[in-house]
Amino acid sequence: MTQARNPARKLFVRSYGCQMNAYDAQRMADALAPEGFVETATPDGADLIILNTCHIREKAADKVYSELGRMRQLKEQAAGEGRRVMLAVAGCVAQAEGEEIVRRNGAVDLVFGPQSYHRLPAMLARARHGTVVDTEFPPEDKFDHLPAPAREATRRRGVSAFLTVQEGCDKFCTFCVVPYTRGAEVSRPVAKIVADAERLADAGVRELTLIGQNVNAWHGKDERGRDATLAHLLTRLADVPGIARLRYTTSHPLDMDDALIEAHRDLPALMPQLHLPVQSGSDRILAAMNRRHTRADYLAAIEKLRRARPDIAFSSDFIVGFPGETEADFKATFALVAEVGYASAYSFKYSPRPGTPAAAMEQIPEAQKDERLQRLQYEIDRQLDRFNAGCLGATLPVLFEKPGRRSGQMVGKSPYLQAVHVMGPASLIGQIQPVRITRLGSFTLDGTLETVPAAAAPRAPAIAGA
Ligand code: SAH
Ligand code: SF4
Ligand code: F3S
Repeated sequence: MTQARNPARKLFVRSYGCQMNAYDAQRMADALAPEGFVETATPDGADLIILNTCHIREKAADKVYSELGRMRQLKEQAAGEGRRVMLAVAGCVAQAEGEEIVRRNGAVDLVFGPQSYHRLPAMLARARHGTVVDTEFPPEDKFDHLPAPAREATRRRGVSAFLTVQEGCDKFCTFCVVPYTRGAEVSRPVAKIVADAERLADAGVRELTLIGQNVNAWHGKDERGRDATLAHLLTRLADVPGIARLRYTTSHPLDMDDALIEAHRDLPALMPQLHLPVQSGSDRILAAMNRRHTRADYLAAIEKLRRARPDIAFSSDFIVGFPGETEADFKATFALVAEVGYASAYSFKYSPRPGTPAAAMEQIPEAQKDERLQRLQYEIDRQLDRFNAGCLGATLPVLFEKPGRRSGQMVGKSPYLQAVHVMGPASLIGQIQPVRITRLGSFTLDGTLETVPAAAAPRAPAIAGA
């Protein structure tokens, strides 16, 4: 247990973008806890404000500057009251734009990239005497230098946790900034991941989502020094006492190897839900995107996964309006969506990103992108409704996470990541219980408990189905 060296100071972190940013935000808080920083839910009154940013699309990146404008006002107001507020920009915009951020907003004290936040205490100390910009890719591994979260902090974060197992990307899709902002692909060693998982489980975590920009490219060595892939890691983690559910995201279709597909058949803890982005259904566009697989390769992977785990549901990301996309290309995407039948999907208008090859290609008109996005989104929404409607009357195992908004109500997640509401006792938290789905809300499902839950048993809850 580390003693706080300073009186409590308030830390506010706002994260944008992907799950890895959400995970990084927690680890930043862990890194600053020994310095006496305590997290707060609003920027008002905070001593340190960190915007943990995303650079994936233009809109996401632009948002940072408007948000910085607001934070600058807070900072100036505090200064008027004799209080110093430190303002930091972290994440992928920080990595991509570095000094430019300070040029555009002089109130920023500190800019640092996703690979250097283990140095936060030292950077912060330096930033008190002048602006610090640290966008190096440091030689050391941040995970070797980050303090483990306090047990209480893990407990507060709930029964479902993210765990970074892989970071960075070597795929270089022509539209994407991630290989530049997160750097080269790095896989964390099995022993360290298992140790993290055990620590999380010990603090009450029941569901682990392994995260990585290319999580199924994870590779390492098993206990005997043999080459291992994600299937091995999942099998190992399924044995960690207390861990009842496993997920992983985000995967690339190219790295969906047979061992991983078999893991979906063999590991009951591995949830029957997979985010497998395809981006486009047109081979011409897939090639221009440098995705390195065809439509047929993708459909074959989906087919194999369905054979291995018949109840599996898929989600995907789609980009519409990639340079050169014709109506025929778009129709191929639309047809692929209809053919696969997704439980959910995200669709984005192509956004040209500085320094990426596709930004230099001939662009298609914005109005055309808008129109295609609308058409695709309509079909995706229909599929989501259809998937949820298919759950009506079914009994699903639900992992309960927290109380709902109404009194006596509890909320949990189905295997398909749907939020499920029931009336039940608080002792449900951390338990997996069968729930009969009785009503469809707009984004959630309502249900009733099939069995009377056992009394609270935080270390060894009853598991009814996984
Ligand atoms: N590593 C993941 C995705 C990371 S980015 C993967 O390989 O699938 C998340 C999603 O943002 C991508 O799947 C893609 O659909 C979208 N995206 C990335 N760059 C984009 C761009 N320039 N314009 C629009 N959407 C983009
Ligand atoms: Fe980006 Fe492609 Fe890497 Fe995914 S695989 S992070 S889309 S470059
Ligand atoms: Fe955004 Fe960086 Fe994640 S660009 S999507 S925060 S890896």
